[in-house]
Amino acid sequence: MERNYVYPASDRIWHWIHAISITMLVLTAIPIHFPSLRFVDLKIAVNIHTFFGLLVAFDFILYLINMFFYGSIKNYLPRSGDGKQAIMMAKYYLWGIFRGEEEPFHPKPGRRLNALQKPAYFVVMFIMVPLQIFTGLLIWKAAEAESLINSLGGLRTISTIHIANAYLFAAYLLFHIYLGTTGKTFWYFFKVMITGYADE
Ligand code: HEM
Ligand code: HEM
Repeated sequence: MERNYVYPASDRIWHWIHAISITMLVLTAIPIHFPSLRFVDLKIAVNIHTFFGLLVAFDFILYLINMFFYGSIKNYLPRSGDGKQAIMMAKYYLWGIFRGEEEPFHPKPGRRLNALQKPAYFVVMFIMVPLQIFTGLLIWKAAEAESLINSLGGLRTISTIHIANAYLFAAYLLFHIYLGTTGKTFWYFFKVMITGYADE
């Protein structure tokens, strides 16, 4: 069977740093946000949260360099035929996947995302992630950023956005990991993201 190298090392590195960090951020957000679920000391939770928050901010810079200087962005660009492919993939996700049908899309270098993944990952990486980093940094440096925070509606508004977006992240993680298990075998997509190779 032929194999395509679709995820160069730089893509796999930023992705797994994001995966570990955001999982830790969601987990540490639970004791911070819910006093009744304080399974670790608040101070420790906040420190771990801030550490992984800063790591994600750094990793997002790696993501942008990788996107724009190493050409990963080409996987995200719309192409002719995307409309048709989006309908085909929607049918597959809503119906075919539960009947064990073969996935109609096969990733190739430079074209590794299907027409639904492109906009979905774009929203996550270009709206949700930067918004969470921005609001997180403001909360972290609230004293220093007081005037900026006030001009944006105050700390309450900023932290409400941070919390609402946190729910989106928790939902995204569950859905993303679930879809990760829907390859030809349970581990197939995880192996693709670890080795970089997808079957033709
Ligand atoms: C434990 C958590 C995670 C696991 C197990 C996981 C797993 C995977 C797998 C298996 C793929 C490849 C899918 C395929 O080949 O079709 C993938 C792609 C991707 N994941 Fe994750 N992921 C995790 C967390 C995250 C997080 C937190 C983010 C961002 C906030 C993220 C963003 C992405 C993106 C953007 C892609 C597509 C990359 C591209 O083609 O440019 N993942 N993930
Ligand atoms: C997907 C990623 C993230 C999730 C799910 C998340 C979630 C949360 C939640 C739910 C809270 C509790 C807010 C409250 O109840 O008032 C919080 C607080 C906080 N977050 Fe995040 N966050 C994320 C990323 C970040 C980032 C990137 C930073 C940047 C450094 C950050 C910094 C903070 C800080 C400083 C607090 C306040 C902690 C305290 O109460 O002292 N977060 N986060």
